[in-house]
Amino acid sequence: MALQEPVLTQRIPTPPFGDPADRKLIRHEQYVASGGYAALRKAMEHEPKEIIETVKISELRGRGGAGFPAGLKWSFLPPQDGEPRYLAINADESEPGTFKDRLLIDFDPHLLLEGIAICMHACQLDTAYIYIRGEYHHQAKVLEQAIAEAYDNKIFGPGTIMGKVNDRDPRCFVHRGAGAYICGEETGLLESLEGKRGWPRIKPPFPAVAGAFGRPTIINNVETLAAVVPIIMRGPDWFKSMGVKRPEGAPPTAPASYGPKLYGVSGHVNRPGVYEEELGIRLGDLIENYCGGMLNGKKFKAAVPGGISMGVLGTDQYDAVLDFEVGRKYACLGLGTAGVIVMDEDTDMVAMARNIARFFSHESCGQCTPCREGSGWIYKTLCRIEQGDGTTRDLDMLLELAGSMGAMPGTTICGLADGTNWAVRTILNKFWDEFESRVAKSSSVALPVLTH
Ligand SMILES: Cc1cc2nc3c(=O)[nH]c(=O)nc-3n(C[C@H](O)[C@H](O)[C@H](O)COP(=O)(O)O)c2cc1C
Ligand code: SF4
Repeated sequence: MALQEPVLTQRIPTPPFGDPADRKLIRHEQYVASGGYAALRKAMEHEPKEIIETVKISELRGRGGAGFPAGLKWSFLPPQDGEPRYLAINADESEPGTFKDRLLIDFDPHLLLEGIAICMHACQLDTAYIYIRGEYHHQAKVLEQAIAEAYDNKIFGPGTIMGKVNDRDPRCFVHRGAGAYICGEETGLLESLEGKRGWPRIKPPFPAVAGAFGRPTIINNVETLAAVVPIIMRGPDWFKSMGVKRPEGAPPTAPASYGPKLYGVSGHVNRPGVYEEELGIRLGDLIENYCGGMLNGKKFKAAVPGGISMGVLGTDQYDAVLDFEVGRKYACLGLGTAGVIVMDEDTDMVAMARNIARFFSHESCGQCTPCREGSGWIYKTLCRIEQGDGTTRDLDMLLELAGSMGAMPGTTICGLADGTNWAVRTILNKFWDEFESRVAKSSSVALPVLTH
């Protein structure tokens, strides 16, 4: 399988369809001239519930990390009560190894704005906040300029939508974050949007019921909303002609992986970058056909499938199929953001694990004891092992610690702790010998393990 034509990157020259050197910012006029805003015009001719149904049928799954079905999320909104309802667009892109949303914003911001306007119509939302990470200075300016063009052309603002008289007044703003990983978590994002410390909220209530300012709020990733545009234009069947189908005989609720996807590849490859492919590309094909192979002809050792919180694929998982089933099939957390980090044979997996643990320990917001204390312990223990002072008991303790923290074991509020947990556990499990050989060199005495 291979993508027949670029979809999300149709205006962003990307191999194999175009040369990145030819990329330039698409302004409103060029966007319209190349078919832009036709999907919004089409959406406006349909009832909101019809648009939600179309997105539901497409089985578009969120591209921000969790893979939740977008149409289903939109259908969770309570009936309108005359009070404000919001859309929060997650442009925090804080997951290490992830830089795909930036590509869309950098060069084709109106694709995102069109997706936003369609979602606002479908869900009858009043105000959209694009929450963008603080480090994306340039991208925030690009968005502000594009939003101004969109207001000038009656995509946002009172009374008309694209010249069609309407009683709605959709508004769109850019809200800049201040550089905390946790503000990418949807409820941390909402707190930050409200001007508070970005501490994730206990769920339920879910944001669709009580989100920004206590009001119903849809939160979607940039790429998810961009993908809505071609779905409306070309229909859900066309979208489902790409990607990986539900396995034969599986119930309709079993996850499928349809549509095009942006894969951001970094690490030890010759041509790192963002590439668009159908969901379900083989890791080896991504490295060889798109990234020009391994850097300096070295051998493949490991890869992160989609941001470091997903854990790692091992040396024998070079053929892994990168779709939403990757977690179940290859013993990692999931596809995440499809931000792939490739590691060659010289990579020190102990240092890699230590580096990841340092990140999570630093970014833990501190509300939950297992995450706050556990991530710090894991980091310190890994430092000890890396320095040659570790013991075999440290390895067992690492696994025990990692296995006991996270939203999935039910000990924390949000998924940051699961990221720490899966990253450390998968690296340890898949590269156990490397860790064991490091502690074997150690001469230190085992520390007592606390049992209570
Ligand atoms: C610690 C943490 C960080 C996250 N960071 C991001 C992020 O930077 N961008 C993003 O879109 N989603 C991020 N997410 C996922 C969001 O919580 C949420 O699922 C997503 O924005 C929903 O959009 P989608 O359904 O379109 O994917 C993060 C989740 C966690 C637990
Ligand atoms: S799991 Fe960690 S980051 Fe998430 S709320 Fe708890 S302490 Fe904060």
